[in-house]
Amino acid sequence: MAKARAPGKAILFGEHAVVYGHPAVAVAIEAGVNVTVMDNKEWTVEDRPLDPIRHPHLKSIISRMPQGSGPYSFQISSTLFSAAGQGSSAALSVAAHLALSNQIGGSSNLIDAAKSAHLAEAAAQSGRASPTDTATSALGGCVVVSSSLPPMVKHVFGAELETSEGLRTWDVGTIDLPDNSNPPSLVLGFTGNPSKTGKMVAMVADLISSNPERKSDLDSIGDITTVGLIALASAEWEAVGMAMNACHDRLEALSLSTPFLEKLIASVRPYSLGAKLTGAGGGGCMMALTRDPKRVAQMIELHGAKAMISSFHNEGAQILV
Ligand code: MEV
Repeated sequence: MAKARAPGKAILFGEHAVVYGHPAVAVAIEAGVNVTVMDNKEWTVEDRPLDPIRHPHLKSIISRMPQGSGPYSFQISSTLFSAAGQGSSAALSVAAHLALSNQIGGSSNLIDAAKSAHLAEAAAQSGRASPTDTATSALGGCVVVSSSLPPMVKHVFGAELETSEGLRTWDVGTIDLPDNSNPPSLVLGFTGNPSKTGKMVAMVADLISSNPERKSDLDSIGDITTVGLIALASAEWEAVGMAMNACHDRLEALSLSTPFLEKLIASVRPYSLGAKLTGAGGGGCMMALTRDPKRVAQMIELHGAKAMISSFHNEGAQILV
């Protein structure tokens, strides 16, 4: 038996624009996914035959294991909201890669897990996915993804993906917060409306191809992220919150927000340093950076959404057994 755990993520700034090479900054959250792999007579998920339509990520991860591996059973438990912008499919893919590799007895590391999980995400998102969710889930902490990393970011690995728009390449790195940075809390609010990342990424691609001038919104997100990253590296939390708010405005301009997300965000802003949608949008989650997580969680629940409080800095994926 082998068991691995991988955390979900929250994107502070840069979602969608990162698919086009602009920078994004994400942090690992407390909640995550556990995957247990055991020898079995056939490939199963939760005691049912593995269905590649229901579990495209697992199918893709298995395809990169040594030929003739398995069959194995998967048991999955998650504390993340699903299809909610918390990176549940990335965490599943990373944990499944680590547990499978360990069960097979081959060598594997977090970078291999991040790369394989990125390919699984891309396959499930019609070929378009940045390595943001998967790298954050694997590495933990604060992760930066960009076509070129600024000097304060420690380079960890390079990622590439063949897409219908050509070869895309990213550098993935991490930043350490200064000592005594005293980070605020994160509060995530799930609208209860699941959102498919692939669909939202395709919607942005269609918008850009029919209105090329709208690329300027993505350029603005890139600029905001660069400013936000500088603030984060020096733990200037008010400026981090301002960058989150500015990023949300651009995402809203790209029609990625919804009336419910807007209501939740407006309701928590008086108690937050910043608040925005996080992840693909079109439903899913909003997030707030706050010194008053209880009050923010109460506001979210009062408006009919589900709240989840998380510390700011959390570990990446690990093999448990
Ligand atoms: C989804 O969590 C983040 C997006 O930028 C998609 C991606 O990076 O692959 C919307």
